[in-house]
Amino acid sequence: MTEREQKYFELEKKMRPYAARIFDGGRFDEMDKNIQHGKTTTKQHVMNVADISMKLGDALHIQYSKGELVRGALLHDYFLYDWHERANEENGRPKSFHGFLHPDIALKNAEEDYYLSKREREIIKNHMWPLTITRVPTCREAWLVVAADKMATISEFFVDIFS
Ligand SMILES: [Fe+2]
Ligand SMILES: [Fe+2]
Repeated sequence: MTEREQKYFELEKKMRPYAARIFDGGRFDEMDKNIQHGKTTTKQHVMNVADISMKLGDALHIQYSKGELVRGALLHDYFLYDWHERANEENGRPKSFHGFLHPDIALKNAEEDYYLSKREREIIKNHMWPLTITRVPTCREAWLVVAADKMATISEFFVDIFS
């Protein structure tokens, strides 16, 4: 097992108690086929976001629902296409729209495959704030994912450059 594989194996073990039905059901593993950025797949990215959100919530001593946070974070980018290649061919929009459109696509896919709570839906729908300026998060879990998503993206970018 490479160091990278070991890392994601450990992360999955840590999250399994909260998200077994996410890992085992739906199309979760399909996210491993698509690159989010650099060398990081979308599946790896959502696992980083879930991990960072939990660490952030704990470090700030915020009271939050760990299960909903982990599940929402794991599904926040469940759009299931390679946005570099295909963007959003179905409705013919160019890839520059990906940032605005993918939360709704992720939510639609996630609702087809899983039962979601109100907070889990909110995490997926509003995670691109402030790009989607009117989608302001209204629960702590969604705020944690907004912050963790940006942090994960930056750290993945550097890991990809230096590894
Ligand atoms: Fe996203
Ligand atoms: Fe993301």
